[in-house]
Amino acid sequence: MRILVLSGPNLQLLGLREPQKYGTTTLPQIHALLSDLGRELNVDVECEQSNHEGVLIDRIAAGRGVYAGILLNAGGLTHTSVSLRDALLAVDVPFVEVHLSNVAARESFRHVSFLSDVAAGVVYGFGADSYLLGLRGLVGAVTRTRR
Ligand code: DQA
Repeated sequence: MRILVLSGPNLQLLGLREPQKYGTTTLPQIHALLSDLGRELNVDVECEQSNHEGVLIDRIAAGRGVYAGILLNAGGLTHTSVSLRDALLAVDVPFVEVHLSNVAARESFRHVSFLSDVAAGVVYGFGADSYLLGLRGLVGAVTRTRR
């Protein structure tokens, strides 16, 4: 089973960027932790990051029929992107939305997600662990729907 992990704008700066909000773990470290967890859960995890909405959309579109699920931290695009939402709906692959920070405890514009209501689940507020919890949730959801 193949799982695509996508991270959006500015997440390549994890570790340096506002560590009080996002922690000190870098994105390559998160990717390594996800690969380890993938081995434990018996899934192949492929991780990518882009600062460009269109690149993320292309990646999602190319994933149709390839990936069993998508784990997505869309960064700021979460709160703005109808097109990302449309891409996820079009590809019809279950996805889990994750955020490192507790978006509900931040500015009101971060309380809006264009993705949450069409996600299989959402995890936020646990720093790098949000990705790991999200992967566990996604694999569970995909496994249940395949039975
Ligand atoms: C984020 C939360 C977003 O509001 C923000 O724009 C990000 C990171 C998070 O992981 O906490 O870039 O997705």
